Amino acid sequence: MSENINGKVVVITGASSGLGAETARHLAKEGATVVLGARRLDRLKGLASELGLDEKAILQTDVTDRNQVKALVDRAVELHGRIDVLLNNAGLMPSSMLDKLKIDEWDRMIDVNIKGVLYGIGAALPHMQAQKGGQIINVSSVAGHKVGPGGAVYAGTKWAVRAISEGLRQEVKPWNIRTTIVSPGAVATELIDTITDQDIAAGMAKTYEKAIPASSFARVIAFAIGQPEDVDINEVLFRPTSQAY
Ligand SMILES: NC(=O)c1ccc[n+]([C@@H]2O[C@H](COP(=O)([O-])OP(=O)(O)OC[C@H]3O[C@@H](n4cnc5c(N)ncnc54)[C@H](OP(=O)(O)O)[C@@H]3O)[C@@H](O)[C@H]2O)c1
Repeated sequence: MSENINGKVVVITGASSGLGAETARHLAKEGATVVLGARRLDRLKGLASELGLDEKAILQTDVTDRNQVKALVDRAVELHGRIDVLLNNAGLMPSSMLDKLKIDEWDRMIDVNIKGVLYGIGAALPHMQAQKGGQIINVSSVAGHKVGPGGAVYAGTKWAVRAISEGLRQEVKPWNIRTTIVSPGAVATELIDTITDQDIAAGMAKTYEKAIPASSFARVIAFAIGQPEDVDINEVLFRPTSQAY
């Protein structure tokens, strides 16, 4: 058990696979009380059973619907009286060259990766202000620092996450709220399955041969949460050691 994780109420979006699911496992082992949202309820049920969670600890949540995101955060507060950490993790990466005009995918990335994060902030902030404390962790990416061909829209969404997080950091000082941006490189999850452009998918599959396990991300989240409350880990950028990009 980790001292400043044990007993904390942690809400995770996109908890049905990849980074979100692995972080739920890791934090639960460290004594956190997790409340998990995603669209795939069967996956959430499997995770709840694995972790021995009450069925109320999972809620089908589409982060593009602000009411569903509010319901997820409110569920945590109803069950446990507070929300200590929100991990705004849900996201997708259907990368493509702009001239492929996959405009529905551009919309989807903006709706999930940017607006979903904002809805999470909007749902958690009133509770954290009332509590005079809490932590909002937003997931950006190496693509929030660098952009390459095929990654314009995804990188744009992840750049936006960093800008929103930095604004948030400055605004929430009066309430003792911590804010963290985590920017992973290639980590083995289902993320690249969202790519429909075959050329980009092939290149990305090659990059992801070097991917590191999702436990790497979970340890970073645990590090950021586990610091004493007067220490605010604002940003972590990490990659596989072998990743040049
Ligand atoms: N893996 C990497 O290399 C990497 C690198 C940098 C950043 N990231 C970021 O890490 C985050 C997690 O991705 P991952 O790598 O763990 O990929 P993943 O395995 O595909 O997981 C994505 C999660 O997001 C959820 N999600 C997608 N659309 C959603 C929606 N509309 N509403 C609610 N949940 C939604 C999915 O759940 P449902 O489908 O069940 O809703 C799933 O749980 C993303 O923000 C991604 O951009 C990942």
